[in-house]
Amino acid sequence: MKTILTGVKPTDLPHWGNYLGAMRPALDLAKAKDVKSALFIADYHALTTIHDPLIMKEMTYAVAATWVACGLDPQKAIIYRQSDVPETFELAWILSCFSSKGLMNRAHAYKAKVQANEEAGKSDLDFGVSMGLFTYPILMAADILLFSADEVPVGEDQIQHVEIARDIALRVNNTYGEILKLPKFVAQKNKTIVGLDGRKMSKSYNNHIPLFLESKKLRKMVMKIKTDSSPPEAPKDPSTSLIFDLYKEFATEEQIQDLRLSYEKGMAWGDAKQVLFELVDQKLSPMRIEFQKLMDDKSYLNQLLHEGSLKAREQGSQLLAQLRKAMGIGA
Ligand code: TRP
Repeated sequence: MKTILTGVKPTDLPHWGNYLGAMRPALDLAKAKDVKSALFIADYHALTTIHDPLIMKEMTYAVAATWVACGLDPQKAIIYRQSDVPETFELAWILSCFSSKGLMNRAHAYKAKVQANEEAGKSDLDFGVSMGLFTYPILMAADILLFSADEVPVGEDQIQHVEIARDIALRVNNTYGEILKLPKFVAQKNKTIVGLDGRKMSKSYNNHIPLFLESKKLRKMVMKIKTDSSPPEAPKDPSTSLIFDLYKEFATEEQIQDLRLSYEKGMAWGDAKQVLFELVDQKLSPMRIEFQKLMDDKSYLNQLLHEGSLKAREQGSQLLAQLRKAMGIGA
């Protein structure tokens, strides 16, 4: 039995990039027979940036509803709020006692912040850096190690964090014996989903397509995808077409072949966009309806998250008990 775990911060409504690049692959992994999986909502990680209680609450539900609408089977996978598993935070403290400050200094997110301050000519290079941001990798290590995860599916920007978790686990194990499982990251190779303007799809570039847009808005967005100015009848190259790339993510082999032929024959960009829109709308509509249904039934979501947290806590408290004993903490 292999254990996989991944977390999503409740900061934004998910877009195609999140879904295709991270959520769908994680859900596929979770479906396998010999796999136990935990997919959680990293609300306390989001507290490093989200200080609006309404957004925090609503986005937490939205992430949970997204996982379920996208096919998570709550009977098989565990879904929970990070904040509902207090063992995480006890473990985070323990881990912090085995994490050198230098290790945190080298974390990409922190380094990027320092560099931005440097470039802005700030005299305080730690300007805007909270301890939450600085020790973010330790809390993430606690999420992963508490669950004894074998594999952590993540986007490329999170690989270093999984490696840090491994480093910290090694330190603890060197002191107390093999208690913590050393996790491996699973990164989606070549899975960068490109946004409307041709850059990586990201909310920060504002080039993203939200996952659950209603049809009219979805069509409008798809029509905005950047194309070249070749005339409608000119043959088009599928290998350099963003529309084609996105189509491939949702289409069957046969559908892909058909569109390829149309490209070669010559097809107006507007028509290609229409084909993409129709396919995606058909694929995502049922998920969008399910998402809305879940968002209108918070008590169901609460129950689901609560049940998930009980399972996570059961496993987490066992690990913590073992660790406490090894450390000589408690009676
Ligand atoms: N840091 C991750 C992100 O920003 C979210 C996260 C928190 C996470 N804890 C995790 C991911 C544990 C995987 C495993 O996307």
